Amino acid sequence: MSRVLSSKVSTTPFEGQKPGTSGLRKKVTEFQKPHYTENFVQSTLSALGDKIDGCTLVVGGDGRFFTKEAVAIIIKMAAANGVKRLIVGQHGVLSTPAVSCLIRKHQTMGGIILTASHNPGGPDGDFGIKFNCANGGPAPEAVTSEIYQISTKISSYSIADISCDIDAIGSSSYSVDGRLFIVDVVDSVDDYVHLMRQIFDFDAIRQLLTGSDGNEPLRIRVDCLNGVTGPYARRVFCEELGAPADAVVHSQPLADFGGLHPDPNLTYAKPLVEAVKQGGQGFGAAFDGDGDRNMIIGEGAFFVNPSDSLAVLANNLDCIPYFRRLGVRGLARSMPTGCALDRVAAAKKLECFEVPTGWKFFGNLMDAGRLSLCGEESFGTGSDHVREKDGIWAALAWLSVIAQRQQSVQQILEAHWDQYGRNFFTRYDYENCESAPCEKMMSELNQLVADPSTVGKTFSSGGKSYTVSKADNFCYTDPVDNSVTKNQGIRLIFSDGSRVVFRLSGTGSSGATVRMYVESYEKDNTRMDAQAALAPLVDIAITVSKLKEYTGRNEPTVIT
Ligand code: G6P
Ligand code: ZN
Repeated sequence: MSRVLSSKVSTTPFEGQKPGTSGLRKKVTEFQKPHYTENFVQSTLSALGDKIDGCTLVVGGDGRFFTKEAVAIIIKMAAANGVKRLIVGQHGVLSTPAVSCLIRKHQTMGGIILTASHNPGGPDGDFGIKFNCANGGPAPEAVTSEIYQISTKISSYSIADISCDIDAIGSSSYSVDGRLFIVDVVDSVDDYVHLMRQIFDFDAIRQLLTGSDGNEPLRIRVDCLNGVTGPYARRVFCEELGAPADAVVHSQPLADFGGLHPDPNLTYAKPLVEAVKQGGQGFGAAFDGDGDRNMIIGEGAFFVNPSDSLAVLANNLDCIPYFRRLGVRGLARSMPTGCALDRVAAAKKLECFEVPTGWKFFGNLMDAGRLSLCGEESFGTGSDHVREKDGIWAALAWLSVIAQRQQSVQQILEAHWDQYGRNFFTRYDYENCESAPCEKMMSELNQLVADPSTVGKTFSSGGKSYTVSKADNFCYTDPVDNSVTKNQGIRLIFSDGSRVVFRLSGTGSSGATVRMYVESYEKDNTRMDAQAALAPLVDIAITVSKLKEYTGRNEPTVIT
C-alpha cells in the first residue's frame, strides 16, 4: 500500500462559484484555470462538515472533456480531506441516474457528478460539478448555498499526491496521513442494469422487441447523442432485450459529443426524427449528455410531448411490476409542466404536487413516501427508484406500456386524449440573450402580476380571447420541511385553465435564456397540430411580455 502525506495549498476565492439549478456549470476554460476546480471541490467537501470523516462518496460523470482531469483532482482531494472510500465509474463514466443508484445501493454519504448535462462539450464547451446527497438526489438549497459561502472565503485546499488508474476495474488502497483510503473503480453499468431488471418485466419487453410472441417485432431506434448513455443503452436494449446492434446509435461517449448538442428535443435530436421518419421504426428515444433526460417518439416520428409522456405513464403505471408491487403513492410535476398529469391524478384519486423547476424539489416528497412518479416539461421523467430523472428508465417505462397495451405510441396518446382531453403545450426558448434586458423584462412582468388590475383583463388574438383569472410569481412551500422557494416563474392563468409562464433558465453557462411556456386545454378538439392550436395564446404572450423588444429576437432558438 503506498503511503502519502497530504498538503495544504494556498488559494484565493473565485467569483461566481454558485451552483445553479443543477450544480456549478461554466465553460471548460473556467474550470481549467489554476485552482478553480480545486477551490470548488474543497468548498463542496468542506460543506459536508464532520460527516466527511471516514465516509464513502461516488464519483463519475458524462465523459465530457475535462472529466478525467476532474476525477483525478477529486481523488487527490477526497483522500486529503478524510474520505475513506471513493466508488468511481470506470473511465470516470457514470450517468447521472447511475450515480444516484450507486449512492443509494451502497448507502454512501453522497456523490459528485461531473456533467453539464445537455450543454455542449469539448474544450470550448461546458463542464459542471454537482453534489448529490445521501438520498441520491441533488443537494438542496441549504447545502448548495453553504458550498457557495465557503467558496467566497476559501484560503486553502487540502490535496494528496495520489495517482490512480481509473480505466481498470479494481480496488486500490492508500495510506494517507496514516488513514486508510480506498478507490474502487467499478463497472459503470452493472448496478444500474440490475436495478432496471428489478423494476421492469424484461421478458415482456424482449418479446415485444424480438417478436418471440409471434407478433411483428417492434423496431426501435435509440440515439445516445454520443453522451454517457451509450454503454447503458447497448447493454439494456441490445444485450438484455434483444434489439439488433444497429438499434442503438451514437453510442460511444465522446468528450465533445462528436460535435452534437446532446439535448433530446426536436431541434437537437433531429437526426433521430429524420431516421425514424425514413426507417419506419415504431419507437424512438434520445437522451441527453448525462442520461437523465429523454425524448420519446413513435412511428413516423410522432412526437410525445414530455408533459403528455408523464401523464400517459401515470395513467399506465400498472404496466410496470415495480408499481404493481409497491403501489403508487403520489404524482408530481414542475410548475411550468403541462397540467395533463393533474387530470390523471384526479381520476385516480392520487395526491399531485406542483413544484419549482429542478429535480431536487421532488426528493423530499419521495423520501417522505408521498411521491412515486414525477416529471418535467424539460424532458425529464422518473420515479422514486432513484432520486434523479432517468432517461433509460423512461424509455423502458414506455416500452412496458406498449408491450402491455399492444398499441402504437400514437394510439396510446390518442386514447389518452379521448379519455382526458388534451393539454396542448409548447415551450419557446430564447437562448443566450443579453442578461440585462431579460432581467428588465422579468421585473416588468413581475410588476404586471403584482398589479391587482391584471386579474380580469382580457387579451385577444386570432379570434380567441383569454381573461386572466390569476397572476403571480410562483412561490413554493415544501410540504415536508416547509421551506419556501420564491420567484420561480411568472404565471398568467386564464379563466379556461390556459396558462402562460415565463422564467429565466437556471442551467445556462453564459448570458440569459428566456423560457416561455404556453398551455391550453381542449376537451374534444384534440387532434389539432399543437403549434396551430396554441398560436393565438403564443401571440398574446409575446405581446404582453414585449419579448421581441427585450430579447432582440424575432424567433426563438428552440420550440418544443
Ligand atoms: C435540469 C434540471 C431540471 C430542470 C432543467 C431545466 O435538467 O435537472 O430539473 O427542469 O434543468 O432547467 P432550466 O432552468 O434551464 O429551465
Ligand atoms: Zn441532464
